[in-house]
Amino acid sequence: MKQLLFFLLLLLSFSCKTSTHEKPAPVKGLITQNAMVVSARQEASKIGTDIMKNGGNAFDAMVATEMALAVSYPYAGNLGGGGFMVYRESNGRIGALDYREKAPLASTKDMYLDENGEVISKKSQLGAMAVGVPGTIAGIFEVYKKFGSLPIEDLLTPVADLARNGIIITKKQEARFEKYKDLFFEANGDTIPITSGYKASDTLKNPKLAETLERIIKNGVDEFYRGETAEKLVNFLQSRGGIITMEDLAKYEAKWREPVQFKYKDLNIISMSPPSSGGVCLGQIMKMIEPYDLKQYGHNQLETIQILTEAERRAYADRSFYLGDPDFVEIPIDTLISKEYLNYRMEGFSLDQATLSSTINCGIIPGYESDETTHYSIVDEYGNAISVTTTLNGAYGSKLYVPELGFFLNNEMDDFSAKPGEPNMFGLIGAEANAIAPEKRMLSSMTPTIIEKDDKLWMSIGTPGGSTIITSVLQTILNVKEFGMTMQDAVNAPRFHHQWLPDSIYFEPNKFDQKLFKELEAKGYNISEKESKISSKVNSILVYPNGTMEGGADKRGDDTAVGY
Ligand code: GLY
Repeated sequence: MKQLLFFLLLLLSFSCKTSTHEKPAPVKGLITQNAMVVSARQEASKIGTDIMKNGGNAFDAMVATEMALAVSYPYAGNLGGGGFMVYRESNGRIGALDYREKAPLASTKDMYLDENGEVISKKSQLGAMAVGVPGTIAGIFEVYKKFGSLPIEDLLTPVADLARNGIIITKKQEARFEKYKDLFFEANGDTIPITSGYKASDTLKNPKLAETLERIIKNGVDEFYRGETAEKLVNFLQSRGGIITMEDLAKYEAKWREPVQFKYKDLNIISMSPPSSGGVCLGQIMKMIEPYDLKQYGHNQLETIQILTEAERRAYADRSFYLGDPDFVEIPIDTLISKEYLNYRMEGFSLDQATLSSTINCGIIPGYESDETTHYSIVDEYGNAISVTTTLNGAYGSKLYVPELGFFLNNEMDDFSAKPGEPNMFGLIGAEANAIAPEKRMLSSMTPTIIEKDDKLWMSIGTPGGSTIITSVLQTILNVKEFGMTMQDAVNAPRFHHQWLPDSIYFEPNKFDQKLFKELEAKGYNISEKESKISSKVNSILVYPNGTMEGGADKRGDDTAVGY
């Protein structure tokens, strides 16, 4: 009997050791009790957190964090771009702000086509003609007007100081400056400060941006849209062949929008509405996969990948046809995220064989007429939560830098469909709903999202990554909800992506098993492991039932959680 007991104990200890070896212990991100900012740079997360420590709320912190990213992360943080914010107040009230760029008044549907009707792709991506009317400064002032609680100088002076005193270049930043140096030269025809050979650990100071911010502190939103900054910006753009005028700037307005809301099991998901496709596509995909038991199939296992891929393919096909600026096109949002419609979309799906994208079109709705970005999440000690994604579109936007003002300008015009059926820089196909028109906002994939569970705040999440934004947000939510991961593990987990066309599943390189690829190929899926395709960096906060929060900061970048 004793011998049997000893044998059983030995077996138990052996099996414990084996399972520990197979499954690494969960990794948790920063844990705090009161407040947190998770953003692409430590400096920006710290400035936002300090604002909250000094009595500010999450919205005050948003104003400061957004501008601090423009200083410390010029790759995507900006004054010359735009973005979207989804929020949930401590009393449960929700909302969304659209400060997306707009097409200039002088823009035309065919402005990026040559005399043969072919797309001149560089024209919408590099230099002055690629620039949409910027929305970021209007966005932060709209947030401040509605929710701000501290004086604006308390929010922005630390940011101006950061620009004047400088930021420390990271290794990843050094590599990016090097990678884009020829394009900087091509767009600017000259050298610009960040091409002066900065290396990791060097300090990059931006006194011109500090001056711009100081004028904005003094004169408010009008400084950017009507004042000296506006004049400098327009003169600069016009000297480079751009078409944005003082009238374009004066007419710009950020807009409050109704967020998209839908249920996934016991979660209430609140995400960005058009002109971003993020919330609608996320809703479509999550409702299409809801009937399947992903937990049973397992994280990143064959059937899970098939189910997600097939739902993604169908949602991105709909995206290309139905979605655009809601002020210009009618979008059947309720139908697109309804159970009935999505059941019909998944008809024909089988685990036996891939549904080829060539056989999929947008769904038929009776009666219907017809890139680099950065994300941050903030939760304050009062329970307010915000989720913001902001962008210049491509890395450093149009690469055009305004030396007198100290910032880059977007190339967001490339997010329009220059010619129906032609892919943009993310390979996304667009149709009439996203054709260019004066003052129209271009379609986005940005998916700032807030999630409630049991009527309480559960998660704030989002990411950059162009067309891969939606699928990265999706997988990170599922990693926590279905696969029981911590917030940090959910962010760290390898990701994949499908967007209807091109008809391939894109995998993060060297993170998935070759055997899995063979199994997928046998069922008719195309596999791609291209380095650049999945460029998402998810930044999120998970709130536990006892109110403690965990940050998920994506180590694919320099992203950092700071809180207290
Ligand atoms: N520029 C990337 C996006 O808006 O989706």
